[in-house]
Amino acid sequence: MSLPLEAGTEACAGPEKGEISADLVRKADEIVRQYPASKRSAVLPLLHLWQEQFGYLGPRGVEWISQKLDLQEIQVLELVTFYPWFRQRPYGRFHFRVCRTLPCALGGAGKTFAALEKLMGVKGDPHHGALVSEDGRFSLEYAECLASCGTAPVILCNDDFHEKVDEARAAELVAACK
Ligand code: FES
Repeated sequence: MSLPLEAGTEACAGPEKGEISADLVRKADEIVRQYPASKRSAVLPLLHLWQEQFGYLGPRGVEWISQKLDLQEIQVLELVTFYPWFRQRPYGRFHFRVCRTLPCALGGAGKTFAALEKLMGVKGDPHHGALVSEDGRFSLEYAECLASCGTAPVILCNDDFHEKVDEARAAELVAACK
């Protein structure tokens, strides 16, 4: 049975487009071979692999991974919805995460977030998922503690970590996104 990802809601972007390349299949098979005792243990690495390839985990990814590991789709979907790292719709090419946990909140994370919203031209309720710019260049969301509370406010831009990001530093980081 095929499960829609929150079909009809904003979170559902529909099936991921693009071919499932031979390279993707080879990498997935390699991962699965690393778990000879139980191939279902390969589910998290396969979710990361799919998201790296297609940018998010939609119904096609859930179906493909569940078939590969002999799991039910709901067993894959529940991981996609549980871990904030996994996305159910495409984000921007430059994805910013701003820590909002108490030390960063006290250190000015709200001001940094507001500055980024303005610089990226994104709008919406940031407490309900990432805000994505119309041209698909930027996306912005809050994150919980990024484990550097002494250097608040802290943000991630894609996989790059930045500390003490005030409004001026936020402007520099956005300008550097080419
Ligand atoms: S509270 Fe922001 S890094 Fe810990």
